[in-house]
Amino acid sequence: MNCTNWTGPIGDMKCDLLAVAVRGEEEWHGVLNSLDSALGGLLATSASEEGFKGKSDTEVVIHTHGKIGATRIALLGVGDDVSAAGMRNYGAHTAKLAKKMKLKHIGLVAPTAGSGTTALSTRFAVEGVVLGAYEFDRHKTLDRVEWALESFQYAFVADDAVQSNTGEDLDAAAELGARVAEGICLARDLVNEGPNKMSPIELADAAELIAKEEGLECTIFGLKEIRERNMQLIQAVNAGSDIEPRLIHLVYKPEGNTEGLPVIGFVGKGLTFDAGGYNLKPTGAIDDMKLDMAGSAAVLGAMKAIQAVKPNVVVHAIVPSTENLVNGKAYKLGDVYTAQNGKTVEIRNTDAEGRLILADALCYANEQGVEEMFSLATLTGACVVALGPYTCGIFGSEKDMIDDVLSVGEDIGEDMWHLPMNPKLRKMLRSPVADMKNVGERWGGASTAALFLKEFVGETKWVHMDLAGPSFLDSPAEAHTPKGGTGYGVLTLLEYAKRKGEA
Ligand code: BES
Ligand code: ZN
Ligand code: ZN
Repeated sequence: MNCTNWTGPIGDMKCDLLAVAVRGEEEWHGVLNSLDSALGGLLATSASEEGFKGKSDTEVVIHTHGKIGATRIALLGVGDDVSAAGMRNYGAHTAKLAKKMKLKHIGLVAPTAGSGTTALSTRFAVEGVVLGAYEFDRHKTLDRVEWALESFQYAFVADDAVQSNTGEDLDAAAELGARVAEGICLARDLVNEGPNKMSPIELADAAELIAKEEGLECTIFGLKEIRERNMQLIQAVNAGSDIEPRLIHLVYKPEGNTEGLPVIGFVGKGLTFDAGGYNLKPTGAIDDMKLDMAGSAAVLGAMKAIQAVKPNVVVHAIVPSTENLVNGKAYKLGDVYTAQNGKTVEIRNTDAEGRLILADALCYANEQGVEEMFSLATLTGACVVALGPYTCGIFGSEKDMIDDVLSVGEDIGEDMWHLPMNPKLRKMLRSPVADMKNVGERWGGASTAALFLKEFVGETKWVHMDLAGPSFLDSPAEAHTPKGGTGYGVLTLLEYAKRKGEA
């Protein structure tokens, strides 16, 4: 897609569809008025006849009959939302319209009042265009829409006219938006792919490809190395599967001397299918369990885009990956295993498998010398019960790191909420035969899962993101978040790493 900044008179821009953002019932700005007079008042008349008041997700499309450069104008309501997510929605709304009408050349006029700077608005609108056009249709042979955007021009309104020189590098901002959105789309693809085509083997292959394309270090362990390293918890979960597990490890290092730079770990749960093991999930709960590698997808999506952000930190991306199935070798209730850090765990529920494979992976991350780490996992249904499908649960041991993550989420537009790890709940994990068991009692399930992980974190600063809700949706939430895999988490990881490198 050819993406350029337009600074001339807006009526001269040539495209198939010119989208203009309208904020609520604000007075029409000069750009709208000048387009309206070029069209002999048709724009204002159509808007009023359609009852268009600029509310979010509303639109009016009119043909211009050669009176201006653009063939059609779409007035798109953005309401009061000019946040990052609002700009993404606006871009996505535009892309969806273009896709529906199969138009390949679009223009977009955004309000500068957006997310702080014009560069940020540009970035978020471009992200929205790419995200809004996303569809997982690679396996459809019927009814597939063959459409791809060929050119995209964007302009910004300041007071009355299109802004011509903001002094910012808008091309770089647009490029960044496109690259970040590609990382998010990659995460979506990994989640949406069926578990027959996205087993631990294919997940590791995908990681290897990312490493090759983006110039990252890549190490992949198979069953042999996992055994040699005595990662018994990954082996236990994997025992019921005919497919070998993988431990994926990518490293990003900025150019030049990296000595003294912050070192961060991103650890993502890569359960490519969670049947529950002998605590087998019932129909209804098992159906979408290909989603159970969304934590790993977010980590890999972030690594796909990390060279576009170039944060001044070293990042270790670590993904333990296996299926959780049943066969004659599968792990059983009452089994006791030793984690990589020597702690023993009694299995009381084979469906609480994510925390087991993450435990070994967190120990491995610590061996890499990370100073801070994240765990990202579709860990508990309890977290979805607590927060609903759109909000990620945030847990952590360090107030400063939690606060930093929450403000990243707020600025970048990923919904999240801090949940407690009340130490009083720790006794729920006591086992009569081992150091701990892998499940607590019924209440506080998201917190006891986080408390379990904490046993493997050591002194490292750590934030856990339970993204069981927002990483996979039954129906689209907004124009830029589709049904199925959403790529939740990519934005937060990238922005956190960027800010850490600037601190
Ligand atoms: N993968 C599931 C959690 C999940 C549930 C993700 C719904 C997405 C949507 C996880 O492995 C699991 O089964 N957790 C159990 C924990 C329980 C056994 C303590 C759960 O949430 O029921
Ligand atoms: Zn499970
Ligand atoms: Zn699971």
